[in-house]
Amino acid sequence: MFLKKNNLVVAPLAGISDTVFRRMCKRMGADVVVSEMVSADGLHYKSENTAALMKFDESERPIGVQLFGSDPERLAEAAQFTYEYVKPDFIDLNSGCPVAKVVKRNGGAALLKNPVLFGKIVNAMARAVPVPVTVKIRSGWNKYEWIDEEFARIAEGNGAAAITLHPRSQTMMFTGHSFWERIAVIKKTVNIPVIGNGDVVSAESALKMLSETGCDAVMIGRAAFGNPWIFAEIKAALGGNDYTPPSNQERKETILEHIRAYRQTHGEKYAAGEMKKCAAWYIKGIPGANAARCKIFAAGSSVEIEGVVEDFFGNITD
Ligand SMILES: Cc1cc2nc3c(=O)[nH]c(=O)nc-3n(C[C@H](O)[C@H](O)[C@H](O)COP(=O)(O)O)c2cc1C
Repeated sequence: MFLKKNNLVVAPLAGISDTVFRRMCKRMGADVVVSEMVSADGLHYKSENTAALMKFDESERPIGVQLFGSDPERLAEAAQFTYEYVKPDFIDLNSGCPVAKVVKRNGGAALLKNPVLFGKIVNAMARAVPVPVTVKIRSGWNKYEWIDEEFARIAEGNGAAAITLHPRSQTMMFTGHSFWERIAVIKKTVNIPVIGNGDVVSAESALKMLSETGCDAVMIGRAAFGNPWIFAEIKAALGGNDYTPPSNQERKETILEHIRAYRQTHGEKYAAGEMKKCAAWYIKGIPGANAARCKIFAAGSSVEIEGVVEDFFGNITD
């Protein structure tokens, strides 16, 4: 099994959890990483851009590739292709994405409207590949109409090796708070490992989720934006060790490394656009960040973003 007790898992994050981000998190202490969601239809139609999302570096293992779609045969075919193409340690089914462009094609959280189809998909995927198939679900479509127990049972009964629960409803999108008590319920419902997800923002909240819900592992998404050190912070707390936050020098070096690796991996055009939000995340909360953020967004190239970052940290003493 790729997952161990108290593992820290990097969440699948469309447009963010690429190989550069994942390697950064891994280096800071993350144990398991998951690719952003990959379209089973895109793989079927041989989209090179879709297939490129699955590529990873050996240092990222154990890694899961997450697939989304709505047709059991197509997802089984996609799982098989994924296994043969990149040999991930596991394959995850996205049954939680709430965004319109995914649910209107019956994928992501829309699967929570159809337990029979969901079971068929998990079954077809689990039979298609020799690696574990996992599922990531939300707690339901409507707030307080929780159907996660039913779906967790179906997933387990059809061969899922682990379940990630993000205990919000589809209609909540990312608003309100995660209902962690649902994670505790699911942990009691199934015998396979349960990964808790939602609103872990610090070592304190990670430890709280583990102790309050009994979940086997914790998945972290948004709190790692511009803060891959969150994994080091939680790891230290789990081991009973002190944690020293990164110095400004380390923060600067990490941002520059991220920009350069991004440029190398995705090319200048993509890096210049996408690294704006990333660089802004990294400096959030540091005095002077607002003015620097404006300069970052006005930058015309990734090298210019590097210059703004250098200047910003040049004016700060630790
Ligand atoms: C920008 C963004 C992209 C996301 N992309 C995916 C995705 O591709 N697959 C998925 O299962 N969940 C996706 N999620 C949901 C996260 O994996 C996670 O479940 C959610 O953010 C809650 O965890 P957190 O509170 O630690 O962020 C995404 C969330 C965000 C904010």
